[in-house]
Amino acid sequence: MESVAVLGALGVAEEVSGAERAGRRVEAAVRQVLKKKKAKEPAGPDENLVCIISDLHVRIGRYQEAQLVRTVDDILALNPLPKYVLCLGDIAFLTGKVEEYAAAKVQLDRLAAAGMQVTLTMGNHDRRANFAEVFPEAAAQSLLQDRFVYKVETPRADFILLDSLQEGNDTKTWITPGALNEEQVQWLTAELSGRTGSKPLFVMAHHPLEEIKIEKLLMSCPSCIGFIYGHKHNWDPGWKHLNFKDRTMMRILCVPSTGHWGDIGFVLLRLGNDRATAELREREFFFPKPAPEGEPKPAVWTEIENENRDACCTFPYQRP
Ligand SMILES: [Fe+2]
Repeated sequence: MESVAVLGALGVAEEVSGAERAGRRVEAAVRQVLKKKKAKEPAGPDENLVCIISDLHVRIGRYQEAQLVRTVDDILALNPLPKYVLCLGDIAFLTGKVEEYAAAKVQLDRLAAAGMQVTLTMGNHDRRANFAEVFPEAAAQSLLQDRFVYKVETPRADFILLDSLQEGNDTKTWITPGALNEEQVQWLTAELSGRTGSKPLFVMAHHPLEEIKIEKLLMSCPSCIGFIYGHKHNWDPGWKHLNFKDRTMMRILCVPSTGHWGDIGFVLLRLGNDRATAELREREFFFPKPAPEGEPKPAVWTEIENENRDACCTFPYQRP
């Protein structure tokens, strides 16, 4: 009786292990299918990837608007997508018309719909009141009352977007030099002096440093590792130093236009563990406007495109 019981028990055990084996095979097959499916699916937005766009100069029905559509198409085709999109001004064509902001919003909303967080600031061709009419939420989120100033915090670095627009009363013209008002300089001074940790900080504005005159202020803050701007419509990395007495330097970078003139494209900033790398994604170069259809473009445009192919620059988190 005892041996029958043992055999019986063994038989059951064999049945159970057979069922387990079959179960494991099914599980492995399911895992394999899920793995393949995941590889095909586009990854979600990457929080260590920042897309920088500038100088949209949206002109309704003209090439500038079409170029913005192409830029947005190119950003949406990235895999993974960047989590953050930072826009450095000159959203409107020349004098900040409401309808130009509305046209820009149609395209920027496509980025937001894909899960990207879009932050915009002003250039010399923008008008705050007209911008606020189309982007009331963005206007309300500004950290200052009279200027559109933002702070974007990502896991590895923070970004401050300043508002360097000097707005005149004439609705048909614009003021080219950039400037920061007193309130903004005071705010920035307090913000930088309060940064005692080592988290890297990027400061950004539409205009170059020489116009907004904050070189000393930025370089007095050790965690400020770079200044990024637009306005000049070209890819132009460089370094700033204050004097010849010490080695203190800061990386600066001018980014292209999405489609008005000059270098056309955007910049992808990859936030790594010890440095950020800015990669130029240039679609083309033209000046002062694209070559008419059917006409060859000047050879120098191709030279510039070739020279800029795969261009990149780094922002070490430890400033020299
Ligand atoms: Fe511009």
